[in-house]
Amino acid sequence: MCGIVGYIGSKSIESVLLVGLQKLEYRGYDSAGMAVLNGDELVTRKAVGKIAELEKLLKSSPLIGNAGIAHTRWATHGEPSTINAHPHLNNQKDIAVVHNGIFENYAKLRAELVDDGYVFVSETDTEVAPHLMDKYMHEGFSSEEAFVRMLKRLEGQYALAAISEKAERKIFFARKGSPLIIARGNNEYLLASDIPAVVPIAHEAIYLENDQWGYITPAGVTIFNGNGEKVEPAWQAVSLSVEDVDKGDFEYLMLKEIYEQPDVFERVLKTRLDDTFIHFPELKFNKDYLARIGRILIQACGTSLNAGMIGRMYLEQFAHISAETDYSSEWRYRNPLASGDSLVVGISQSGETADTLAGVREAKAKFMRVLSFLNNVNSTMARESDALIELMAGTEIGVASTKAFTAQVLNLLFFSLYVGSIKWLLPAEERRELLDEIRALPDKMRQILKSHERIKEIAEFLKDKNDTIFLGRTYNYPSALEGALKLKEISYIHASGYAGGEFKHGPLALVSDNVPVVIIAPQGDIRAKMISNLKEAQSRKGTIISIITEGDEEIKKESDFYIEIPKCAESLSPLLVAVPLQLLAYYTAIARGCDVDRPRNLAKSVTVE
Ligand code: G6P
Repeated sequence: MCGIVGYIGSKSIESVLLVGLQKLEYRGYDSAGMAVLNGDELVTRKAVGKIAELEKLLKSSPLIGNAGIAHTRWATHGEPSTINAHPHLNNQKDIAVVHNGIFENYAKLRAELVDDGYVFVSETDTEVAPHLMDKYMHEGFSSEEAFVRMLKRLEGQYALAAISEKAERKIFFARKGSPLIIARGNNEYLLASDIPAVVPIAHEAIYLENDQWGYITPAGVTIFNGNGEKVEPAWQAVSLSVEDVDKGDFEYLMLKEIYEQPDVFERVLKTRLDDTFIHFPELKFNKDYLARIGRILIQACGTSLNAGMIGRMYLEQFAHISAETDYSSEWRYRNPLASGDSLVVGISQSGETADTLAGVREAKAKFMRVLSFLNNVNSTMARESDALIELMAGTEIGVASTKAFTAQVLNLLFFSLYVGSIKWLLPAEERRELLDEIRALPDKMRQILKSHERIKEIAEFLKDKNDTIFLGRTYNYPSALEGALKLKEISYIHASGYAGGEFKHGPLALVSDNVPVVIIAPQGDIRAKMISNLKEAQSRKGTIISIITEGDEEIKKESDFYIEIPKCAESLSPLLVAVPLQLLAYYTAIARGCDVDRPRNLAKSVTVE
């Protein structure tokens, strides 16, 4: 949802900013731009479309300088166009601003500035910022004072950076709501929306707090809090490596991340499980409190909510806690009722999703405790929650979430088993068998990954379809939702997931010989019911693609295509089923020529409501 980068140092400004933008492209790719100070001259380049377009432009019109800011955009106010691309400038073109977030009072500010004689060229909310800074500089304030006065006028949420010809070799920055980090390498300083953008250069970083602002210069970083008091920089080592944020030998990051899942599981297992006990070293809640939780309200968005729906079943099954799920954007507005023993669980890969964060704040406002399942433990949600559980999926950059999803489900499973064990709910033998099965999951995932050729064949068939239906029940109803979400977001084929039992109450009307139906029917209690769904679809000429436990000859015979997963407990099947569904979406998107890591209109981290 827009990414910003800034750099002051002696390396090629163009390449540092371009590489930074490329690493932030997951945040948006409608347009990109750069503004660089060359001595006291400010020069700007902008291009519509992906960062590759800006790169082309820079080849023909290069930029030189030693301080600069850059931006990759996910359009909110104003269509993707060169005019609406950041950086935005004042009328003299000597101040440039890049911004991630929304200025909620921009219409009022714009009207005021127009009255003052300022001419606006774009439809964006961001353009008020350079004009405001200009206005205060014309009133006689220094660039620093003008920057602070500008911040005081801006309402909403933002991470922003500004440069001015009058403040040579200084980049101003501010954070309110949207993430921003400052980083340093060898006599060089950077700022960025996320850590991957600085990894090639930086060895230390500071995660700014809300309302902090300041500037970087060749000599260092100066940070102030919202009251204007100087803050001591809290440097932390950057532990990511270039390989962590690179696609390596894979064609797309999404595919790399799909293949990383067995390793992620091994990492989670190593941390969470010894011979008999489950551990949550980072969890701040004590066992007495966990045993007393009466109700859990899970709120999340997109894929994270689908993981939460599986987690709800685990909480009920293994921890005997009544649980419910809702989209964060709905939950926070429906005046949720809370009793003293209720816990709110937020689930988020990024920890920055505006709706989920707003849900956390809503819970806190109602004096409810919040536990968040997060991949990014330096995120805003990590700071604002009462306790957190780390997903340990490693950096996920592909817009379509894959390894974070399965890590969410696995950690929810462990959490439910952990609470269950505090309450002595699971008989020892049953518990031992389940833990043994969980330990076997990484190898079973590896086995599924080997079936990619079969999945490619199905993708070849799917690629020419316009509509698909995904069906699952109980543990795999959320798998159906997630399978459909993956397919539509990266291949643009319309896909809907339904609970198998609901099929006959409406969706069945959609089935024809041109509408494939994906039947998720692993071994377990609901398999027989899924066979009924298969028959319902088959008798309406739907093409059947089934996901089954290996050796299920009965369903194989009835299916046009099938994908097998290794035998496992029904409760664990969503963890395995996720893999072929991800690969099916991936190969279908590839067969349709789609840019898998940059699906149209989407962004990985959605920091606006
Ligand atoms: C966006 C992404 C999804 C993600 C959702 C929630 O829509 O494209 O992949 O599931 O945000 O993100 P979060 O970081 O909160 O898990």
